[in-house]
Amino acid sequence: MNQEKTFYDNLVECLKHQQKKSSRTVVDSEVLKVFFSTSTKLKNTKAAPHITKATSSPSSTVTEHRITPINPPEFGHKQTPESCPIEELSLDELRIMAVNCRRCGLCDNRNNVVFGEGDPHAKLMFIGEGPGADEDAQGRPFVGAAGQLLTRMISAMQYRREEVYITNIVKCRPPGNRTPVPSEANSCMPYLRRQIELINPKVIVLLGGTPLLHILNLTGITRRRGQWGEYNKIPVMPTFHPSYVLRFQNTVNERNIKSLVWSDLKTVMQFLGKPVA
Ligand code: URA
Repeated sequence: MNQEKTFYDNLVECLKHQQKKSSRTVVDSEVLKVFFSTSTKLKNTKAAPHITKATSSPSSTVTEHRITPINPPEFGHKQTPESCPIEELSLDELRIMAVNCRRCGLCDNRNNVVFGEGDPHAKLMFIGEGPGADEDAQGRPFVGAAGQLLTRMISAMQYRREEVYITNIVKCRPPGNRTPVPSEANSCMPYLRRQIELINPKVIVLLGGTPLLHILNLTGITRRRGQWGEYNKIPVMPTFHPSYVLRFQNTVNERNIKSLVWSDLKTVMQFLGKPVA
């Protein structure tokens, strides 16, 4: 019952959204098919979709809506119910769509969709590769060991974590933390493109080779880091992924890698008008 109501609520929200844009409201026949097939079959499913206010964790004071997905078992991949064109969705609507996404095989093993978090009007946006085990468990980006380092990097840049926006190329964990394959990244990119469009940050920092490839269409993070790029007129700074930095911990190269990352971050700070020592 609860499941049907929430799915219905989502549908109504999308209709209202469309209505705002034009007086004529058209419901796609596929949407109605999905709606009716879902509402009759959901009685047998155990996952109850609902929106709750997630409590903030000690590492962040960000409060966000955690949305448990509707999980219609009969949907195959690429059959996500998309009742609104992605480029018209608000950040909240986009999140609802993402948590129900079945565009690629990564949805089969996920515990949570990791949509992203932070200030929806952030000046500074970080894009990583994809959720790891901790992120998949909590539904939040960069909360594991690499995340702790990222949080320290953000503090060093004189921002609080909740002042920036953090997300990934793919929103579901690739098994064994492997790099997402191009088809997975391509399936997920419409979410990220719309996130960037809505947040409209002044600077994007790319963490590692995967976002470098999918945002700037470039390879070779070692060569490219520290050099400005551009994505839809937004300045983009590639740097090493925090996991890569952690790999050098307690080695002779630790200081060297850290100082390269710090130099990239200082370039970003300068651009944003932050005092750099
Ligand atoms: N690594 C990433 O690229 N993203 C996360 O969210 C966590 C680890």
